[in-house]
Amino acid sequence: MNDDKYFLPTIRDEIDRLHSLHFLLHHIWKSNFSSAMEEKLQWGGAKVLDVGCGPGTWVLEMASNYPLASFTGVDISAIFPAEIKPQNTNFIHADILDGFSYPDNYFDFIYLRHLAVALTDEQWKNTVMEELVRILKPGGIIEIMESDVYWSNEGPISQKFKSTYIEDLRSRGINLFVIDKIPEFLQHNRHLVDFHQDTRQCSIGKWAGRVGELTADNTVQLFRILKYRYAPMLGCSNDEYEKLLTELLNEIDKLQPYANSYRFWATKTII
Ligand SMILES: C[S@@+](CC[C@H](N)C(=O)[O-])C[C@H]1O[C@@H](n2cnc3c(N)ncnc32)[C@H](O)[C@@H]1O
Repeated sequence: MNDDKYFLPTIRDEIDRLHSLHFLLHHIWKSNFSSAMEEKLQWGGAKVLDVGCGPGTWVLEMASNYPLASFTGVDISAIFPAEIKPQNTNFIHADILDGFSYPDNYFDFIYLRHLAVALTDEQWKNTVMEELVRILKPGGIIEIMESDVYWSNEGPISQKFKSTYIEDLRSRGINLFVIDKIPEFLQHNRHLVDFHQDTRQCSIGKWAGRVGELTADNTVQLFRILKYRYAPMLGCSNDEYEKLLTELLNEIDKLQPYANSYRFWATKTII
């Protein structure tokens, strides 16, 4: 379903990368969400939707932390667990741009993480936000998580990969810097109130310990997965591309970059 619609191949390496990124972000934030959902999730009966859930790592962890709530993950790639999963989870293979068959005011909590790579500005603003707010209950919360594209202390090799990445997505109409507009999408929606945001700094590279090292490896893994497209775009052979990835890790160790991870959330108005 997804091959021409989403830019990343859904191969084993990408699934592993998303699992690992989930645990890195959880470690950095010390939580799976920031909005005031704790009590509702504990009381029971809360319905939660993870939009573009990938392999479902967030859903699976949340479902075991909150056994009385029910969790649904939706993704255009069926890379989530099909059969072996907790009873309070459900995964749906669907394109979020087709809309949902849920009635209005259905979910208590809607969560999206790292969908900047998947949607055009237009799709964010006019399709996805509108539809998600429709199926969110009054008093329910929508929380969106994204990370910086560019790092602080970024070196030339890293910039070379990033500009290829940005260009690749731009050719599909996707603006990776949509992160700057997400507060606006939430604040300007007439059904949403009580906007908040929070930030954590992530250090990248061995200099920052094991988490920093794994974060750097995650980036290298992303660019390795994209080698089949980016090596030709950069005019190098596969071997030269691999060498560039090794140089990227060396550059990271030397320059000690860091970047921010963001959470934005708002509540659907009761009136
Ligand atoms: C970068 S991954 C993030 C996955 C997950 N949210 C996480 O944080 O681990 C983006 C996900 O969005 C999914 N996706 C992209 N376009 C989509 C669409 N139109 N409808 C549903 N899922 C989509 C991709 O298949 C991919 O799993």
